[in-house]
Amino acid sequence: MANLTPFPELSYRQQELYIEDVSLSDLAQVYGTPLYVYSYSALSKAYREFSAAFASRDTMICYAVKANGNLSLLRELAILGAGFDIVSAGELKRVLNAGGDPQKVVFSGVGKSKEEIIFALKANIFCFNIESEAELYRIHECASELNMHANVSFRVNPDVDPKTHPYISTGLKNSKFGVPFDTAIDLYTKASQLDHILIKGIDCHIGSQITDLNPFIEALERILELIDELKRLGITISHLDLGGGLGITYKDETPISLTAYAEALLSRLHGFSGKLIFEPGRRIIGNSGLLLTKIEFLKHSPEHQFAIVDAAMNDLVRPSLYDAWHEIIEVKHHSNPASYQFDVVGPVCETGDILGSRRQLSAEPGDLLAILSTGAYGAAMSSNYNARSRASEVLVYKDQHYLISQRESFDDLIQRELTDFLTQPALSKS
Ligand code: LLP
Repeated sequence: MANLTPFPELSYRQQELYIEDVSLSDLAQVYGTPLYVYSYSALSKAYREFSAAFASRDTMICYAVKANGNLSLLRELAILGAGFDIVSAGELKRVLNAGGDPQKVVFSGVGKSKEEIIFALKANIFCFNIESEAELYRIHECASELNMHANVSFRVNPDVDPKTHPYISTGLKNSKFGVPFDTAIDLYTKASQLDHILIKGIDCHIGSQITDLNPFIEALERILELIDELKRLGITISHLDLGGGLGITYKDETPISLTAYAEALLSRLHGFSGKLIFEPGRRIIGNSGLLLTKIEFLKHSPEHQFAIVDAAMNDLVRPSLYDAWHEIIEVKHHSNPASYQFDVVGPVCETGDILGSRRQLSAEPGDLLAILSTGAYGAAMSSNYNARSRASEVLVYKDQHYLISQRESFDDLIQRELTDFLTQPALSKS
């Protein structure tokens, strides 16, 4: 039987998989599949664990909206007290729409447009995390046009290796993100001379799905060096943002415990009395969600047995894109569990449409499977490839379930497309 330790809200009851007190088979019946299912208890527990670890300090936990920007989830997090890390005006609109406090919003991202900056200034966000010199001048220009002041922080690359997947390592010297460590002092000096810029903070984000504490410590130590040097130059930093990146268990990883993380950081922060900011995404929502899917067919080739399911890479792209592992488990245990190694694949016309390879399952057509740890970067990265509708999403709390996003209809898929013109009228008449 699968190890459910990383998912405290999942349990088998009479051979049936439950999330909190709701049976997943029931959810499939009510809402259909594929279906994203989230546990409110897991989500709130993960958030509270994070904030409790830093309770001794003035801390803002800015949930990274990119991990999963569903409005209901954002609203629940806002109620729990979360701030938000955004990377686009769209994400800011989501936060505002969900009732998030703009004074708890930090705006990251390497390519903020003028329109986005103006929108964020007018919304009165907490801080811009600047990622280049050109962006500093653009923000200054926007703020001066509005006759406002922009609160800023520079995202500095501490050049430490987070030892994670290259696609999600962001703090190295050659990364497109952040500003090089060696240029930071010069940039802060330049920023301090701009009338419409208020220097507030310093930040870094070294990567994602990090399970080793040392890169975080190294990054902090480098950033603290900068804070000291800035102080000598008369530039005061009032907040320190250490980004997100804490990993979770997908397969057999041991995640960093939040108490160890907090202890390691706080013990080095005696000399800094400002506000602390964190931008966790995956750690909050990753293991709070799963993707429920139904087996359409079993198919055998000489070397593979395929379980063809109704979810696909358009619903969950992480396995195809990063070769990421997600645990896949049966929703119902069979009484006579003859099991085989299956490649669990979707209906999309790509050989890479694989959700899991060589999984030991006892599976029959019509059976439901749960693809675990898909709360973060699952629904958020889903698409309409192959004209497939994006899946519904449901939030479960105890024995209640709430639809928080509806499966797209065909009309939703085509509503942006315009067909009221003809390039070849004659042809169309013939
Ligand atoms: N802050 C910044 C500036 C970020 O770029 C990110 C993630 C986060 C916070 C949140 O990181 P987290 O705590 O979730 O690791 N699609 C990839 C992950 C991309 C992460 C991008 N940046 C995946 O599915 O693994």
